[in-house]
Amino acid sequence: MAMRQFGKSENHEPADANGAGGGAAKPAVLSLTPATVTQAVVDQMATTPDPRMREIMEAAVKHLHQFARDVKLTPAEWLVGIDFLTRVGKMCTPDRQEFILLSDTTGLSALVNLMHDKTAIEVGTDTSLLGPFFRENAPRFKAGDQICKDLSNGEVAMYGKVTDVNGSPIPNAEIGIWQTDTHGLYDIQADPTGAMDSRGIFTTDANGNYLLRTVAPLDYSIPMDGPVGAMVQAQKRHGMRPAHIHLLIGAPDYRELVTALYLSSSEYLASDVVFGSSSEDLVADIVKNDPSCPIKGMDAIRYDFKLSRMSEADRLSGRVGSDPSKIGADS
Ligand code: BEZ
Ligand code: FE
Repeated sequence: MAMRQFGKSENHEPADANGAGGGAAKPAVLSLTPATVTQAVVDQMATTPDPRMREIMEAAVKHLHQFARDVKLTPAEWLVGIDFLTRVGKMCTPDRQEFILLSDTTGLSALVNLMHDKTAIEVGTDTSLLGPFFRENAPRFKAGDQICKDLSNGEVAMYGKVTDVNGSPIPNAEIGIWQTDTHGLYDIQADPTGAMDSRGIFTTDANGNYLLRTVAPLDYSIPMDGPVGAMVQAQKRHGMRPAHIHLLIGAPDYRELVTALYLSSSEYLASDVVFGSSSEDLVADIVKNDPSCPIKGMDAIRYDFKLSRMSEADRLSGRVGSDPSKIGADS
C-alpha cells in the first residue's frame, strides 16, 4: 500500500495520506475554519497585560475579520490593500502625514473627535479637525498684527472674545491660528524652506478679547498627489475642503479647543472631503467694512469662543492638538 511508505506509526497502524502516524495522537495544531479563526486570535492575544490595549486589539481583530467575511475578501484584493497601506506609509514625512489624511477622508478622525466632544463636562464651542498642517512653535503676535505675508487679495480682521461657558471672559487665553495663504496653500506646501506663514499665536487681553489680521482663506483641495488622493479620485469625490481658518485655543484649567471657522460663502460646506464642516455654529461670515470691528473700515469675521472647564480625565489624556510632524519620530 502506497500509504505505508509515508510515515510509520509506532503501533504499526497505517499512516494517513498526509504522513502523520495513523493511530498515534496527532500533534496539537490550530484547527481553523473561517468561523473559528477570530476566537483563536483573540485567545492568543488574551495574554496582553495592558487592559486597554487588550480591549482595543480584540475589537480591532473582530471587526477586521468581520469586514473580510462581509466582503468575502480575496487574497489578491488584500494584497491591493497592503500595497495601498504601504504607499500611505512611504508618503509620510515630517511635513506630510498621509495616514492622517486617510483617517480624515474616511471620516474616522471626525468620528473620534465627535465622540471626544461628548466627554466634555461643559458644552463649549464645537470642535473641528486639527488636520495635518498644525505646527508647534508658531510665531507669537500682538493684538491686531497680520499673520500673512502676501496681502495681494486684501486683508480680513478677526475679533471677538474667549469666555467660559457662562460668558465670563478668559484673559491670557492663547489662540493659535493657521490657514491657507492668498494662493490657497499652507506654508508647509508653499515654502520648502520651512518658513512659517499664515499662522501664529495671539493672547486675549484682560477682558478676554482678541483681535488679529489675516486674509480670506480659500476653498482648498487636500493633497491629491499621493495614495489617498488616488483613492478619492477613484471614488469620483471632488477632494475639496470648504475655506476655513483653524484655531487651537487653550487656557489653564480649560479644555483645549481644536476648532475651525468655515466661510459661509463656500460651495463645499455640505460636502467637505474630510467631514470637518459638521457644525452650523462654526460657519462664519466676512462682513464687508464691518462697523463693529475694532479696526475701522476692515472686512471682518467676528467670533466668540466658549471653553469648557477641564476635567480630571482631560488632564490625564493630555493635549488634543499636537504637531503631526512628531508622529513616528524617534524621540
Ligand atoms: C485641512 O484642514 O487643511 C485638512 C484637513 C484634513 C485633511 C487635509 C487637510
Ligand atoms: Fe485646513
